[in-house]
Amino acid sequence: MATPYAYFQKRFVPLPEAKIGIMTHAFLYGTATFEGIRGNWSDEQEQIFIFRLRDHFQRLHKSCRILRIGLPQSEDELCDITVKLVEMCGYREDIYIRPIAYKSSEAIGVRMHDLEDDFLMFVAPFGPYLDVEKGIRCMTSSWRRVPDMGIPARAKVNGLYVNSALAKTEAQENGFDEAIMLNDDGHVSEGSGENIFLVEGGRLVTPPVSDNILVGITRDTAIGLARDELGVETVERQIDRSELYVADECFMTGTAAHISAVVDVDRRPVGDGRVGPITAELQRRYFSVLRGRTEKYDHWLTAVTPKLVKP
Ligand SMILES: Cc1ncc(COP(=O)(O)O)c(C=O)c1O
Repeated sequence: MATPYAYFQKRFVPLPEAKIGIMTHAFLYGTATFEGIRGNWSDEQEQIFIFRLRDHFQRLHKSCRILRIGLPQSEDELCDITVKLVEMCGYREDIYIRPIAYKSSEAIGVRMHDLEDDFLMFVAPFGPYLDVEKGIRCMTSSWRRVPDMGIPARAKVNGLYVNSALAKTEAQENGFDEAIMLNDDGHVSEGSGENIFLVEGGRLVTPPVSDNILVGITRDTAIGLARDELGVETVERQIDRSELYVADECFMTGTAAHISAVVDVDRRPVGDGRVGPITAELQRRYFSVLRGRTEKYDHWLTAVTPKLVKP
């Protein structure tokens, strides 16, 4: 049986004991940054493979630099804490790991300076987020992506996710699975929790890092696998909204979303309205890597054997 634990105030504690006060600055103002990391259970090897763990902590450190949040633990230390926590929890299924670096002072007053910082992490079971088999239907959101001049999207800022939440709810309440957000200038940015790619004439096209996107780790994985395993190049350039309607294929990438085909945008089928061949092949390679079945990419995996906890 699995027992949820958290890493909180520099200790491992049972999850119900990890509580913050209601005056915590991060709760009052969203002054925190986080990562979403997946651990994928392998039935064959009876292990959880955490995907690109170090890369997530590298990004967390960058986010902290942007936000002026002190995170004294090195990437190595953060990786060690994660492995220990996942071991302790004992989950034998797919999991989601959520580290957060946050302004921990219990203080009123909106600012980033003269506040204490802390770090916490928890783990939760986490199955599929979007339908990776059938593909998803998307709408162009009426909400615009927050610009770098407002809240930098490349830092995974907790408060920024109000932007994503508004877009996701609008999409779902209108009968779609996911939102595609445009920038203020009308170019395509990303989904509420995913980067976006088109397939055009045998190449991948995706918005550049300067188009208010989170620089996704799955995005990087897809670009690398496409190039090295499929011989398919990626062009990073601005994308018009109407290109979404005429692309051969479209897919989204994200830790939660994996690689999910987009089969319809604004009630216009993408291609023939089914998962396209390049997307399907990329998904196949990606899931094989994730579950530890492609040795060449084992360096992206951190294997953890869950501890057996007696009920
Ligand atoms: C807004 C946003 N864009 C893109 C991504 C994809 O990033 P990654 O592949 O690193 O999970 C995420 C998810 O974490 C996200 O929240």
